[in-house]
Amino acid sequence: MSQITGKIIGLGSYFPPKTLTNDDLSKMVETNDEWITERTGIKSRHIADGIEDKSSTMAVKAAKEAVEDAGIDPKDIDLIVAASTSPDLVFPSIAVTVQEALGCTENVGCFDVNSACPGWLAAFNTVQGFIESGNSKLALVIGTETLSNYVDWTDRGTCILFGDGAGAAVLKAEEGKKNEIIMRSSGKRGVCLHCENRKQPKRYDEDDFEQSTYFYMAGRDVFRFAITEVPKLIKDLAAKYNFSLDDIDYFILHQANARIIESTAKKLNIGIEKFPMTLEQTGNTSSASIPALLNEMKKDGRLKKGMKLVFASFGGGLTWDANYIEY
Ligand SMILES: CC(C)(COP(=O)(O)OP(=O)(O)OC[C@H]1O[C@@H](n2cnc3c(N)ncnc32)[C@H](O)[C@@H]1OP(=O)(O)O)[C@@H](O)C(=O)NCCC(=O)NCCS
Repeated sequence: MSQITGKIIGLGSYFPPKTLTNDDLSKMVETNDEWITERTGIKSRHIADGIEDKSSTMAVKAAKEAVEDAGIDPKDIDLIVAASTSPDLVFPSIAVTVQEALGCTENVGCFDVNSACPGWLAAFNTVQGFIESGNSKLALVIGTETLSNYVDWTDRGTCILFGDGAGAAVLKAEEGKKNEIIMRSSGKRGVCLHCENRKQPKRYDEDDFEQSTYFYMAGRDVFRFAITEVPKLIKDLAAKYNFSLDDIDYFILHQANARIIESTAKKLNIGIEKFPMTLEQTGNTSSASIPALLNEMKKDGRLKKGMKLVFASFGGGLTWDANYIEY
């Protein structure tokens, strides 16, 4: 169905310069490059220094590139939504930090969303809702994370997986195919992947402040959840919106683990070449992974106007979402 929708007209991403390879990790915990590569496909990840590079500053860098790529004046932006589970400030929002840094006007709606790894898809769908209802004409959608703050660097089961970074897209109201979505969640199943918020060190009513605020992840349960629900979700999306998976140019999946992506391709009976990956050099960057992958594909020429794309992500919640768009 053709109508006013949000077309992606600009993309940007940013990764901090410091990297941590599998060999570096093998000096910190009992692991090795062969094990990590075989089980995850990840070879290296970027780590923010927490000074120059934080979730908010990385969001600004990715957003600036997206605005430049779109060739727009930031003063024309009327909505900024940022997704992050690891903001450096409780408030103001990352979106407001970006508004200020880009020199946008005050006629901009700004807020953040938190939906763990599918956060960027949640933000994208929110912005599409504003655009498709006529309430925004030009918007920025950002995903930015410093999960290195929340990883237990003594736990080899989780610290090997995650990395820091940001990705951003500019969406413009144009005539086109509607954004088609399915969003699913299960609070009941969320226990296998969670993270407590940091506590203030001088809370008046607590003796023991040094509570763990690290990631808790039951890796095998999360793995099983992903390889079961993601292919099912994509099949349901195709059935709901009446399209053939064979007509899709690329399946842009959350970059968590190459084995999850390979299993999804196999279950859908689609060639793995239609499932691009960046995770080898970035690890799992949570809500940044999909826009950063899109930006890489645009830069190397794989992404072309008019392509039919399926986005799918999954993560803490548990939450799993998918979209069908025409780029
Ligand atoms: C974390 C993950 C890579 C572990 O792989 P796995 O094949 O499930 O491995 P298991 O946890 O079953 O552990 C197998 C063995 O390897 C060991 N092991 C775990 N991490 C290891 C590491 N980094 N290096 C070496 N050995 C490791 C385990 O201790 C276990 O040893 P044991 O058999 O002696 O008990 C995998 O479960 C996974 O990717 N899960 C999904 C996580 C995810 O994507 N989370 C984010 C979602 S948004």
